[in-house]
Amino acid sequence: MTSQIKSFEDYQETYARSVADPEGFWAEQAETFTWRKPWRQSLKWNFREPRVKWFVGGRLNITENCLDRHLATRGNQVALLFEPNEKGARARKITYKQLYGLVCQFANALKAQGVKKGDRVCIYMPMTPELAVAVLACARIGAVHSVVFAGFSAISLADRIKDAQAKVVLTSDYNARGAKNIAVKAIVDEALALGCDSVEHVIVHQNTGGAVTMKAGRDIWWHEAVKGRRRTCKPTIVDSEDMLFILYTSGSTGKPKGVVHTHGGYMVYTEYTFRNVFQYQEGDIYWCTADIGWITGHSYIVYGPLLAGATSLMFEGVPTYPDAGRFWDIVQRHKVNIFYTAPTAIRALMAAGDQWVKGRRMSSLRVLGTVGEPINEEAWHWYNERVGKKRCPIVDTWWQTETGGIMITPLAGITPLKPCYATYPMPGIQPCLVDGNGNEIEGNDVEGMLCIKFPWPSILRTTYGDHERCRLTYFSTFKNKYFTGDGARRDANGLYRIIGRVDDVINVSGHRIGTAEVEDAINKAPNVVESAVVGYPHDIKGQGIFAYIISSEPVEDMAAFKSSVLNTVIRVIGPIAKPDKVLVVPGLPKTRSGKIMRRILRKIAEGDTSNLGDTSTLLNPEVVDTIKDGAQRI
Ligand code: WT7
Repeated sequence: MTSQIKSFEDYQETYARSVADPEGFWAEQAETFTWRKPWRQSLKWNFREPRVKWFVGGRLNITENCLDRHLATRGNQVALLFEPNEKGARARKITYKQLYGLVCQFANALKAQGVKKGDRVCIYMPMTPELAVAVLACARIGAVHSVVFAGFSAISLADRIKDAQAKVVLTSDYNARGAKNIAVKAIVDEALALGCDSVEHVIVHQNTGGAVTMKAGRDIWWHEAVKGRRRTCKPTIVDSEDMLFILYTSGSTGKPKGVVHTHGGYMVYTEYTFRNVFQYQEGDIYWCTADIGWITGHSYIVYGPLLAGATSLMFEGVPTYPDAGRFWDIVQRHKVNIFYTAPTAIRALMAAGDQWVKGRRMSSLRVLGTVGEPINEEAWHWYNERVGKKRCPIVDTWWQTETGGIMITPLAGITPLKPCYATYPMPGIQPCLVDGNGNEIEGNDVEGMLCIKFPWPSILRTTYGDHERCRLTYFSTFKNKYFTGDGARRDANGLYRIIGRVDDVINVSGHRIGTAEVEDAINKAPNVVESAVVGYPHDIKGQGIFAYIISSEPVEDMAAFKSSVLNTVIRVIGPIAKPDKVLVVPGLPKTRSGKIMRRILRKIAEGDTSNLGDTSTLLNPEVVDTIKDGAQRI
């Protein structure tokens, strides 16, 4: 077990030590794990190429640390506590010993399908325990998992399968999510029809038992694949820097990139942050409401908690099914101690009214967490008062897919809180603010672009198949710094508040979406000539998507046009990217060099048209007034 910080003074001392000697600090934490071969050197790095290696020469398997290491001490403790979609359906409790057996058995099944170390396995599954088993089974044999959130469309799934050149796809028949029953396997079939030549086999978990078509020679049932397979499987011992997984995420330009994380550093950092941020105590019931399809689920449903030997609750459903009391019902029934969710869920449940929290026994709660987007004051206070009854610290955790683990955050009950502030950096994390000229902004009570000056163990290593893209996106904007894409403020006392993205990425309900991606999708709809997409403040989602569209034909039936655009976006990306507002415009404001002036479109979408700045230098200044009038009407 890595060390746990016990007081604010302890944090300050630990932080100072971690910055004075990061190599020594992380080596000390890393020593608490099972290594098959010790590392020669703690860290080797430069941000120029970039090239970062932690625990150089060390050999291990992360699942040996998640599972085998716990068998003697906590074999019969629940590792995964599964709450099904239907309220009242019996929860499934999987002990560490059972999870070990399931993971080993499925690892053996993967081997039998020809999966070898380094092969990529795409996982497109709903939130069932088998999803966690699938992830761990890949890691067990040194295969690289690429989980794709099961809400993405067939086209998005196909793009990711092709980019990773996945050999096998793991899926389920259906996804029972709230009142919906989504035909997941059918979406895989559709994706594979789009030319995913690398795929040899599809393994299908029978979840709801609904009808599916199986392609002979290619598809195999999960239960057939594991039949007769042994429940032990020696972990494949890999290098610290061997790839553990790829996870696709959106940026300002182009298609989503495959962020790559590796075994050694990711293991050390997720366990350390899990134990310290949430102040995990032996026996705690911990619940993170994210989906394993996102980084939050990877790091803080699967790896972090299991590495720490915790009981991790996994919920199949949605916060509002069958009603807006579902989360609180689960907290009460399973006596949840640590609860980690997203501001968008808090806002939605707050809007549903206090009656859903009232009358529920939630005295088990000790720590609350939030992640994914800036939380607003109102939601913070509601969470604190109504859910935490003013006795549970709220950890507002800032981090990203690329950082692998939590970077700036309070430590529950240990460091001071300030509403809407992520507050302090974790030990080993060296944040800084930079101005438009790339100069570091010193002192307090300042605002700038957030960068990190020194590597931490779970920093992304590359973007899959395109290292130059990784360099350009994160390491070229500011010399010798990792650029986060976020703007932040440092208050008079040095505490950090994350303001939001400064690039063309929008954050809808805590999901990262690139404006360029949405525009590409919209442009595929009938009669669309050109489009521009911006984010605007949305009460529940944090940001909504506003789409300005030029149509080749006069639009007579606006409702029909809008639904054709929405359906196209759903088909190309998925429901999470569908625009909230659609405005048909005669033109888009452009500079003389043809660049869309998004600043103007953003202001109009925000409803703030008082000061649009100088529009006289535009190629087509006359469109601005028409757009303004149109926006006022929707
Ligand atoms: C972006 C990363 C890793 C968590 C899930 C999202 C925003 C994340 C916070 C927070 C304000 C936050 C940032 C960041 N973000 N956490 N506590 N306060 N903003 O991961 O999809 O990679 O998105 O989410 O803008 O850059 P992601």
